[in-house]
Amino acid sequence: MRIPTTEDFAELETWGLVENPRAAIEDYSEERAERRWDNDRHRRAHREHDENLSPEFVADSQAYYRELERPIDRRKWEFLKRRKAWFHPPVEWGRFASPDACRILDLGCGDGDVTQRVAEFVAGRWTQAGYDGAPMEIVGVDVNESRVRNARKLTESPHEKITLTFERADATERLDFGDDFFDYALMAGLLEVLDDETFESVLDEARRVTARGLYVRDLLDEYEGLHPRPNLPETLSEYGFETVARHEVFEEPFTEEGTRDPLEVWPMNVHQVLFAENPDSPSLADRY
Ligand SMILES: C[S@@+](CC[C@H](N)C(=O)[O-])C[C@H]1O[C@@H](n2cnc3c(N)ncnc32)[C@H](O)[C@@H]1O
Repeated sequence: MRIPTTEDFAELETWGLVENPRAAIEDYSEERAERRWDNDRHRRAHREHDENLSPEFVADSQAYYRELERPIDRRKWEFLKRRKAWFHPPVEWGRFASPDACRILDLGCGDGDVTQRVAEFVAGRWTQAGYDGAPMEIVGVDVNESRVRNARKLTESPHEKITLTFERADATERLDFGDDFFDYALMAGLLEVLDDETFESVLDEARRVTARGLYVRDLLDEYEGLHPRPNLPETLSEYGFETVARHEVFEEPFTEEGTRDPLEVWPMNVHQVLFAENPDSPSLADRY
């Protein structure tokens, strides 16, 4: 990916996410999902993905992500933060800004750009409501040390009551947090990199540390090396989380002829974005 220019940032502005952060949800249709395959750019991006696949990625994408050493320039990080807002619409994020939410986990947080957006969302809602806020801890956890380093360097709390911290930890193992420590957890692009065995261990741990609800963004298309799970709502239900909102979104907005992403970062893959809540979540008095 090249260094994004001012024009690239201006192009992202035309996607209308500031006015409508849920634009991707409205943009999706099954018909457009079919028609993607007439789009040269989509076909080319898929072909390039297949041609460039490393055997290590296909064999074990989790190990690949764990070991990837990937420093990132601030400008690229800023661009990706805004770019990825398209396919991470803030579904049910209003709950994060409620006065009784105090701790949020971003599991598999990568470089912390989604974590930063959550913090900005909460601070923005508080300000809109004329509310001074209450102490809130937002914690990003990732197994990859270099991603955690990026997140620590590049994120910044947008509000004096919000603390942003990042820890290196493997979510297939016991995390250093008590049961129901977090009100909510996000898993953005984490489950898709996990094989079935690690997927179950991560869900066990997410369940243990999260009291009230989960936000998930995950690949739905078949894409070699990753693990789409169309039955995710049913699986989450087995873990005690009932899906209350679920949407399909494209990874990027596109036209018949090509893409509206000036950097052509990804193909027009389809993802699911969902929020699932625990109907039996323990009372606040029992948790704090
Ligand atoms: C596709 S990236 C998504 C990163 C970020 N959430 C985002 O939306 O940009 C998947 C992330 O999951 C992390 N990951 C994979 N397995 C993990 C595990 N067992 N525990 C914690 N993080 C893990 C990887 O290191 C990587 O940063």
